[in-house]
Amino acid sequence: MQVAFYGAGAIAERHIDALRRTGKLDVAWLASRTPEHAQALAAKKGITRWTTDDQAPLGDPAVEAVVIAYPTFRHAELIQRAVAAGKHVVCEKPLAGSAADAQQAADAARAAGKLLLVAQIRRFWPAFAQAHEFVHSGVAGSLLRATVDFQTEWDWSGRGWRVAERGGYMLDMHVHDLDLLLWWLGGPPRHIWGAGENRAEREATVVLEYPDRYARLEFCGRVAGRKYPTGALTRYQLLCERGRMEIQVASEVVVEQYVGDTQQLARHAAVGEEIRASWDGMWGAMAAALTEGAPAPVPVAQTVDNVRVVLAAVDALETRQVQELRT
Ligand SMILES: NC(=O)c1ccc[n+]([C@@H]2O[C@H](COP(=O)([O-])OP(=O)(O)OC[C@H]3O[C@@H](n4cnc5c(N)ncnc54)[C@H](OP(=O)(O)O)[C@@H]3O)[C@@H](O)[C@H]2O)c1
Repeated sequence: MQVAFYGAGAIAERHIDALRRTGKLDVAWLASRTPEHAQALAAKKGITRWTTDDQAPLGDPAVEAVVIAYPTFRHAELIQRAVAAGKHVVCEKPLAGSAADAQQAADAARAAGKLLLVAQIRRFWPAFAQAHEFVHSGVAGSLLRATVDFQTEWDWSGRGWRVAERGGYMLDMHVHDLDLLLWWLGGPPRHIWGAGENRAEREATVVLEYPDRYARLEFCGRVAGRKYPTGALTRYQLLCERGRMEIQVASEVVVEQYVGDTQQLARHAAVGEEIRASWDGMWGAMAAALTEGAPAPVPVAQTVDNVRVVLAAVDALETRQVQELRT
């Protein structure tokens, strides 16, 4: 299947390489805003056509799907144009820059009968998929609490649209962790509250409150010496009625799983191997959905929820008021 690829930025090459490794997809067009960027990436990747006109690939009947790796605030409008032109869409996370835009994009894809697949890559890390299996198998009883603690030292002052647009740091970065928490907990919480600042250089704690349990995301962006990416540390912990799972991500991924006192799983992997496996896993599942009618690996409604939850968390930090999510 031929796809058109939108974006020549930081994440574009990873997608192009991984989608090609499936052996089922190839890139017919490369679109970007700046001609030199489109041309340079197309030449580097051996893609025959490049353009700065986003509409041009949509008019090509040989293109059956588009992959969107444009800035988040541009996703929803381009998704709507693509599905209206009869193309399936794979879109980078987060689905959109506002909950209304996310819902409109999802509705447009459904109305057009086209797939909308959002690249929530973390679900495809073997460690995080093992955590999902651990919780949903029920082997250790119900999940009581899930926490994520991210520690690094970094500066986002030069990161352009990522900090200038609504949602800022948390929408761009921690949509990954909130997606995992919602996936493990089975959906969005009823209430969200928190304290701190939505800034990569500072710290915050966000609590997702469910009727009978809670989840927590916390980050600190000024842990001396923990330079992102290789020095950053994230700890994930899932406590169940009769067991627990812990995942630590730094230069190594360390996974431990217990039922009672008995260790069921202990695994170490270099973080690069885990990431490479996640890209192959994600694009393998995307390609199967696009070309063989396999189910969407990440249901689009869950990715709309991700945007709602992250932005409610941002509101909770900014207003210092508990946010209630309407169902
Ligand atoms: N899964 C992950 O781990 C991961 C990692 C990074 C990014 N992402 C996501 O991928 C998407 C793209 O991120 P990126 O890091 O690749 O972005 P980036 O480096 O800023 O690149 C953005 C691309 O979009 C183009 N573009 C089109 N309209 C634009 C506009 N109005 N302002 C700025 N750029 C515009 C740029 O064109 P020109 O350069 O030609 O001007 C460039 O090709 C985002 O949704 C982001 O959240 C995901």
